[in-house]
Amino acid sequence: MGIRVVFLLTLASLYFSGAHSATFAITNNCPFTIWPGTLTGSGGPQLSLLTGLELASGASSSLNVHPPWSGRFWARYQCSKDLFGKFSCSSGDCGSGQIACNGAGAIPPASLVEFTVATNGGRDFYDVSLVDGFNLPISVTPHGGKEGCNAISCRANLNTVCPLELAVKASDGSVIACKSACLAFNQPQYCCTGDFGSPDTCSPSNYSRIFKEQCPQAYSYAYDDKSSTFTCTGGPDYAITFCP
Ligand SMILES: *[C@@H]1O[C@H](CO)[C@@H](O)[C@H](O)[C@H]1NC(C)=O
Repeated sequence: MGIRVVFLLTLASLYFSGAHSATFAITNNCPFTIWPGTLTGSGGPQLSLLTGLELASGASSSLNVHPPWSGRFWARYQCSKDLFGKFSCSSGDCGSGQIACNGAGAIPPASLVEFTVATNGGRDFYDVSLVDGFNLPISVTPHGGKEGCNAISCRANLNTVCPLELAVKASDGSVIACKSACLAFNQPQYCCTGDFGSPDTCSPSNYSRIFKEQCPQAYSYAYDDKSSTFTCTGGPDYAITFCP
């Protein structure tokens, strides 16, 4: 191979791998420490370094992914290590026993942000999901995209309006997360399964309506797509903020 060919191949690989990575900047605006977790969707390798990290109140951290990529982010809080060094959290735990989640997702309830990042500046999809419940307010702000690219959020603290039958409480009695009705009752009409397994047959419930009123841009149940899926073209980066 001529040196020019090698040079061009190097440029091409830089172009496809380096230049088109998407950056996620994660910020903790909560007045306490959180431990964000990440999960790469089916098939993809886990984010190279970070499947979990610690962010003190006010701290930020960035990570890059190489499109195509899909995955989700959430946050754990009220975390500690036991006598044997096993790490666990009262809310949003992933069950890994470590700060890294290593391919494990959030044990619900947890507020999620979900992404599908396209190659070559194509159409990205993103959403805030409360389908499995809520634990912390969250927002997503795209930067540098072209079309669409709305900032979205669930800013309300649903823990303060959570119906008793959905509430997850800490030992001191405070509500630290709010289950979805599907998670709490595991019934087809809430989970959109069985006879209720299509957008036409699964309607919002009195419970999902509480979520929707508080957080209109977030998925409140499985078929909440129309008002809850957002897109952005042009290869944006994303800022994810907890307690925006
Ligand atoms: C929702 O509806 C169920 C079944 O009709 C009822 O038992 C429950 O009390 C209602 N909950 C709220 C928060 O409205």
